[in-house]
Amino acid sequence: MGKVYDEIETIFTTGISEEYLGEDVKLVEHMLQCADLARSAGAPDYLVVASLLHDIGHLLVDDAPGAQDAGVDMHHDVVGAKWIEDRFPGSVSEPVRLHVAAKRYLVTTNHDYLAKLSPASVITLNMQGGAFNQEEVIDFISSVGAEDAVRVRLWDDLAKVRDKETSALIEFKEAIDTLAL
Ligand SMILES: [Fe+2]
Repeated sequence: MGKVYDEIETIFTTGISEEYLGEDVKLVEHMLQCADLARSAGAPDYLVVASLLHDIGHLLVDDAPGAQDAGVDMHHDVVGAKWIEDRFPGSVSEPVRLHVAAKRYLVTTNHDYLAKLSPASVITLNMQGGAFNQEEVIDFISSVGAEDAVRVRLWDDLAKVRDKETSALIEFKEAIDTLAL
């Protein structure tokens, strides 16, 4: 008990957690803001933890900032989901796996959505394949966790406020410990 939390704490406090990846906030702050938004919206714990961990893939790959600068997609969605699925149920890993696809889905189906994305998110959108075609939209909405991925995605897009006070990681420990496999 607590082993997964300890791993998360180590990942959140080392490596590139202090990087911005082109956004206004550090990655670790961004993930805490996202989890706070999920919690304030009354989301269930599995979705709060998915929000907290949605960008963990960025913290697990080598040189994410260098890759981003070079225009290389490191597939942080898939990397993150793989790490999470070894430690949590699919209700946590699948929204993370689909949170980039959810952006592509929202760009395709909601005309106002693109205008609300941060500049960095628009740049990565193109690296990630841009808008979906009709077949990809159908594929996405029939995927397990798609609806939850859209919710995470909308909090993700809002979780980029500079100098916003966030909960500390420890405030998510109980949810993490309860959900960890
Ligand atoms: Fe994010």
